[in-house]
Amino acid sequence: MLVVSLGGSPSQRSRSGVLLERSQRWLQEQGVEVVSYRIRDFPAEDLLHARFDSPKVIDLLQQIENADGVVIATPVYKASFSGALKTLLDLLPERALAHKVVLPIATGGSIAHMLAVDYALKPVLSALKAQEMLQGIFAVDSQIAYGEGSAQAQLAPELEQRLNEYLELFFSAMARRPKPLDPNVLNERLLSARWSI
Ligand SMILES: Cc1cc2nc3c(=O)[nH]c(=O)nc-3n(C[C@H](O)[C@H](O)[C@H](O)COP(=O)(O)O)c2cc1C
Repeated sequence: MLVVSLGGSPSQRSRSGVLLERSQRWLQEQGVEVVSYRIRDFPAEDLLHARFDSPKVIDLLQQIENADGVVIATPVYKASFSGALKTLLDLLPERALAHKVVLPIATGGSIAHMLAVDYALKPVLSALKAQEMLQGIFAVDSQIAYGEGSAQAQLAPELEQRLNEYLELFFSAMARRPKPLDPNVLNERLLSARWSI
């Protein structure tokens, strides 16, 4: 199984990034290959000038095409997901998430914006034709404490449990997703079929 993880925070030290890293580690422990991208790693010029032929964007697209699932994490900015992430999602073709299971993750300063994933991010993921979108995880800043120095960040036990539950759901949704039929295999099956329509 292959998963693409996409971090939508422009910040170097990022709470949504902490949840993404935890997810990545959990998935790797289940034998899933994870390829990770952060919005910070994309050339700002490519994003702001809407360069659809940006090599970094094309590379992301190729990985998504081969992936079973995508985990997208974002901070809540002004009651929505990060604008930087939107500049990247705008460059993806309409069916970029077709056949993919998607797990959205968001962190915010206030519980008041916990629905931002539902009313802001999910419609965009739907427009990209995500096959299955999990409900997603929202955490407030107070539930994620950065570690001192090289110590790892601490999650509130309730958040840790919820994250693990959603990762289980994500993993099983990927395992049962119908695989798109390779056109060559379809052709072969049609040629060897004993009936016609
Ligand atoms: C520019 C900006 C706008 C923000 N707007 C909101 C907001 O509208 N609602 C909210 O709950 N938190 C808001 N926050 C707080 C962040 O969502 C929160 O700290 C988040 O965990 C940051 O994620 P990150 O560390 O991954 O960047 C804002 C933070 C910044 C810097």
